[in-house]
Amino acid sequence: MASCSFFLLHAFLLFSLATIAFSSPLTPYYYDKVCPEALPAIKRVVQAAVQQERRMGASLLRLHFHDCFVNGCDGSILLDPSPTIDSEKNALPNLNSARGFDVIDKIKLAVDKACGYPVVSCADILAVAARDSVVALGGPTWKVQLGRRDSTTASRTDANTDIPSPFMDLPALINIFQKHGLNVKDLVALSGGHTIGIAQCRIFRTRIYNETTTINPAFARQRQAICPLSGGDSNLAPLDPTPAFFDKKYFTNLVKKKGLLHSDQALFNGGQTDKLVKSYSTNAGAFSQDFAKSMIKMGNIKPLTGKNGQIRLNCRKVN
Ligand code: HEM
Ligand SMILES: *[C@@H]1O[C@H](CO)[C@@H](O)[C@H](O)[C@H]1NC(C)=O
Repeated sequence: MASCSFFLLHAFLLFSLATIAFSSPLTPYYYDKVCPEALPAIKRVVQAAVQQERRMGASLLRLHFHDCFVNGCDGSILLDPSPTIDSEKNALPNLNSARGFDVIDKIKLAVDKACGYPVVSCADILAVAARDSVVALGGPTWKVQLGRRDSTTASRTDANTDIPSPFMDLPALINIFQKHGLNVKDLVALSGGHTIGIAQCRIFRTRIYNETTTINPAFARQRQAICPLSGGDSNLAPLDPTPAFFDKKYFTNLVKKKGLLHSDQALFNGGQTDKLVKSYSTNAGAFSQDFAKSMIKMGNIKPLTGKNGQIRLNCRKVN
């Protein structure tokens, strides 16, 4: 009897230690007690925004990615420029490109109203809005880990160095994901985020005019028609043939050498990721499952928790 409870005590201690040491401090149930209305409120605003413009789902997914890759998922991307904030909105990957900030403001208003007081962080709003966007566009769902707090700082410099560039080759992509604790599988699965959304001519011009061996010639000509050699920098083209639907076409497209960005085609260009791209191109279930898993992993990057950071009253400003 005594040895049995002794064993149980030890098992319990070991379990607690393992929990503290190895698991994320976040939990999907963070708001269940303090504000059960929070997640439904976020979902309603996202659904309305996506109904109005399908692309908004893509833009919201990208915001969460760009938040997490710069000093963790801490809402730093949402801070406007001020005398003390060198806004990430002005960093190269975001300037005239990141969008959806007004929808985040709308969500914040709706959530604070639903809860009666500001308990939900802007960082958590980004994570939930990303999931709800993917679902609204027909993609997989997952339990979003919650309990992130918001930063009181932002870094344009870090945004410039820590967000991958569309001109990177496979080794550079692998390297920058690894720096964020994400492996090669995460890189390929998460790049599948490009199954939705749109990119600007200035981002894919070099690829469609100069990358003659890694691109389908008919596809290159097609894109050249809307993206001239000079001018039209902000003309838009879809990242895959079905930019309003979360499907596996991004991968089938890569296999046909029809990736729009250099960094997209780099995943299927004779390197170590060819196999995985090919398998996702024929297996939507595997892609969905891996995407959801990797999104949770990305969402766990360096969150502020406990007494660190704050719950912003306005996502654009430090309290
Ligand atoms: C692997 C490295 C990645 C690079 C180099 C990259 C780069 C880019 C670029 C250059 C654009 C177009 C921006 C513009 O033309 O204004 C874009 C769009 C987009 N990216 Fe990525 N991205 C990467 C990974 C990801 C990941 C991990 C996600 C999410 C899981 C993601 C989601 C999106 C979405 C949804 C869009 C379309 C946004 C819209 O239509 O507003 N990207 N990306
Ligand atoms: C193609 O490559 C040449 C030679 O490097 C360069 O001068 C030119 O600007 C490139 N064109 C585009 C559209 O990037």
